[in-house]
Amino acid sequence: MHRPWPYPRVVGHRGAGTLTPENTLAGIRKAATMGFGGVEFDVMLSADKVPLLIHDETLDRTTSGRGSVAATPYARLASLDAGAWFSPEYRGERVPSFEEAGKLCAQLGLWANVEIKPARGFERETAAAVAKLALELWRAPPAPLLSSFEPVSLDAARAAAPGLERGYLTDRLAPGWDETARALGCVSVHCNSRYLTEAQADEVRSAGYWLLCYTVNEPAIARRLFSWGIDAIFTDRLDLIPPDFA
Ligand code: G3P
Ligand code: MG
Repeated sequence: MHRPWPYPRVVGHRGAGTLTPENTLAGIRKAATMGFGGVEFDVMLSADKVPLLIHDETLDRTTSGRGSVAATPYARLASLDAGAWFSPEYRGERVPSFEEAGKLCAQLGLWANVEIKPARGFERETAAAVAKLALELWRAPPAPLLSSFEPVSLDAARAAAPGLERGYLTDRLAPGWDETARALGCVSVHCNSRYLTEAQADEVRSAGYWLLCYTVNEPAIARRLFSWGIDAIFTDRLDLIPPDFA
């Protein structure tokens, strides 16, 4: 069994979940202001290989831009508005670089789960860039936990920064998950709370992994998951599930 989970038990999803525009510095600040100790965010590469915070492969949903993130240089991405789509209050919010977000987390004393979110075809390259930069950004503990839905990204992250811990991220636990997570040297399993059963939670924890669930927005579900021994949850509703919930 691993050591007890040393990080926050309630983690802001994409920053401060649905309280602020996702994957922005405003979200990271909001989570800290509300007393949260950790945030999760998604990191992808621009065309010129700058790691930045965004969830979708296209700019359309969360920025004032259009088209593919992987085909757009960072200077252009950094000029876009990443807050107006959410509400007028956040107009002028930018697409942050991973460097800006990492420095802000360190400054605010926030732990981070950095989800490597490669655009298709850039799985290894994104992971290597993110892992290398994470090593530079986090010289003092607590180190971030890297995670990805892409096994090849986890493999590339390990090659680039073997000392950083990795989480195996999957929507549903499928047969063979343990072999894959073990082969990738993962310390944790992150899965969708919607599909997880209590028996699977037992299996994951008995196999020695920390277990994290996304995206948990109802207190009753959070309570049930914690009663199953889950280590941490990601939430969009930081207003409903406070940092000291578990
Ligand atoms: O890392 C947990 C969760 O963020 C995975 O799903 O699509 O919100 O990045 P998604
Ligand atoms: Mg994510």
